[in-house]
Amino acid sequence: TFINEISKFRVLESQIKDKLQLEHVIVIPGNSDAHETVKEQLGKACVQYLSSILSAEQTVAITGGTTMSEVANMMTPLAHAKNCTFVPARGGLGEQVENQANTICAEMAKKANGKYRMLYVPDPLSEESYQTIKEEPAIKEIVELIHDAAVVIHGIGDAVTMAERRKASSTVMRKIKDKHAVSEAFGYYLDKNGEVVHKVRTVGLQLDDLKNANKVITVAGGKSKTQAILSFFKQAKSDVLITDEAAANQLLKGD
Ligand code: G3H
Repeated sequence: TFINEISKFRVLESQIKDKLQLEHVIVIPGNSDAHETVKEQLGKACVQYLSSILSAEQTVAITGGTTMSEVANMMTPLAHAKNCTFVPARGGLGEQVENQANTICAEMAKKANGKYRMLYVPDPLSEESYQTIKEEPAIKEIVELIHDAAVVIHGIGDAVTMAERRKASSTVMRKIKDKHAVSEAFGYYLDKNGEVVHKVRTVGLQLDDLKNANKVITVAGGKSKTQAILSFFKQAKSDVLITDEAAANQLLKGD
């Protein structure tokens, strides 16, 4: 029955909450690997949750990817959050325009009647350029805004999938494979124990900075992302996980 279905999801949510030590978990029906509409529902659940926690004048930092793009797609005016600012969490990570954090935050701001700021950083960045760029006043100003963000919303990807999509160099690809990276988030590639295998050099939020945000919201679903999700939570701090049924069931089986 409908009631049984609902309680099945509440049980899944509370089991994952206990397992990953989270403040809040939302599980939506289906498997986003198999159906695009499930990813839309992840986006919708994220918008509803954001709407319930965000206050006026706050800053929201977001990452890129197709899941975050669905969050933007489902964005609506946020009732209690007038005048919010959306910023990308980090500089470009090699994504195509539609998957870039800059693009996604502009769309979110437009739909939420908020503001946005962009981070223009060439990608990839040499060590030398990185050292110069991060001292540029215009970059410093936006990076400060990013660091002060009250809410961070991000996706998690499977390491090899992300490295391929971002056309990582053969050296980087070899490192990711040889060191068995399984997840990617914020430009960090992690192995199954959550150890950093590789990190994309760019400005903006570092994994350690997540401790400073009031609320970190992770949005990741699909059975294929189970290992990636588990790996991320071994390394990083997040408060909320929004996922789907297929990933949720596998998460409870894995370590
Ligand atoms: O950093 C993680 C990836 O951006 C996730 O990308 O949502 O397209 O799977 P995705």
